[in-house]
Amino acid sequence: MSATPISRRRALGLAGLGAAAVAAGATGWLAAGGNAAGRLQPAAGEPLRDPGVLASTDGRLAVELTAAPGAMLGGTGTAALAYNGSSPGPTLRMRPGDELALRLTNQLDQPTNLHTHGLRVSPQGNSDNPFLRVDPGASFDYLYRLPPDHPAGTFWYHPHHHGMVADQMFGGLVGALVVDPPLGQGAELPVSADRLLLVTDTTLDSDGQVVPPSAGDRAMGREGELVLVNGQHEPVIPAVPGSSQRWRIINGCVSRVLAIRLQDHQLVQIAHDGTFLRAPAVADRVVLAPGNRADVVVRPGPAGRHELRTETVDRGDMGGMMGGATASSGPTTLATMVTGGAPIPLPALPVALPAEAVPITASVSVQRRIVFQMGMGGMRGGGMAFTIDGRVYDPQRDDQTVQLGTTEDWTITNPGPLAHPFHLHVWPFTVLATSDARPPLGIPQDVVLVPSRGWARIRIPFTAHPGRSVYHCHILDHEDAGMMATINVRA
Ligand code: C2O
Ligand code: CU
Ligand code: CU
Repeated sequence: MSATPISRRRALGLAGLGAAAVAAGATGWLAAGGNAAGRLQPAAGEPLRDPGVLASTDGRLAVELTAAPGAMLGGTGTAALAYNGSSPGPTLRMRPGDELALRLTNQLDQPTNLHTHGLRVSPQGNSDNPFLRVDPGASFDYLYRLPPDHPAGTFWYHPHHHGMVADQMFGGLVGALVVDPPLGQGAELPVSADRLLLVTDTTLDSDGQVVPPSAGDRAMGREGELVLVNGQHEPVIPAVPGSSQRWRIINGCVSRVLAIRLQDHQLVQIAHDGTFLRAPAVADRVVLAPGNRADVVVRPGPAGRHELRTETVDRGDMGGMMGGATASSGPTTLATMVTGGAPIPLPALPVALPAEAVPITASVSVQRRIVFQMGMGGMRGGGMAFTIDGRVYDPQRDDQTVQLGTTEDWTITNPGPLAHPFHLHVWPFTVLATSDARPPLGIPQDVVLVPSRGWARIRIPFTAHPGRSVYHCHILDHEDAGMMATINVRA
């Protein structure tokens, strides 16, 4: 990365982008003035925008998604990556039992594909199949069928072509998937607004190009200098005192752990990873590993400005490797809630929520032990090797073979000095316990942070969806370096 300062005009005249984009840039962006690193920084304080919504009708949603460079970020064009021109891409809203027919067109200069993170759909054929590859210039027709009993909640989509996932997500390729309750069930909660807050991070140089990670970034998991909400820098969320809002917060960052706090407010968490908690949980902060989602109800207090912030999270260190580097997700401001207007009476929170029944007493037929490991050597991980059970990812190999219809307990151990978020596709699990004694949520989830020099024990009911898929570290630099493995669920 060149640190040469360049003129504002050139900074905004991003390669190949039209005059309109440049003009928009003149208001939407600040070239990073006294910034020695020469970074672009979008202006803060615009009202939070929702990505466009594409919703199913009559049980079907047909969508065309084109992955290409030229994302609109902070209101102007960049060389970052986009779905249909924007980052995040459109929010896809469906209902249980619906069919999603999605044509993915690849206008990148490298292969890609698509993963529907958290959806309980088949991993086979042209459904949520992580082994598919869509080459540059090619299109692929996905078809996902949501089962009729699919939970209503917050999910997301992102690329999953092994070796390029971190680059493509850091580049901007993400979008939200929202499953609404079945038609006729009415509103789930008495809220006056239902907002998406899809959090991503990236680093853009003064030419609007995504800055490539260093070897150390790859080893620890890269964190962008720019943290965006719905592609915006520190947007403003308007709120009326007394009215409550539902915020669907998605951690779409490659590596960053978000410990979220709303100034002067408590957060009422109602759902995690797309399923309802048993009852609203009132907390000062909500912690999301990469891939996790939290739906919170915000009950705005008196008029004023209240920052939505993330606090520093210690993700561990390299244990003397990479010069003893440490990884921490630094503090940042995500957004500002601006409260004003005539207060309205606050509706009561529900006492119970429509949580899914978890058969925690199911008879467990198999126990497995999975080990996340990090060591010296390896080509992709910045000179480090990232493995599961001592092996790097091989899509041809079956690492775990499971009988459909059984329930298993897995213990994921992490002897290393860096925390790794464990993620399993298709089959959500219940956390039984973790070595840091966090109280388990008691509901299905799909990403759990495995503490450094610790473990997490989970219970997985393999009740539906035979087929092959993957589990991996959701620090996507680690996944790309080989910390991923396959699972074959056989009927
Ligand atoms: Cu969100 Cu396999 O990942
Ligand atoms: Cu996933
Ligand atoms: Cu990891």
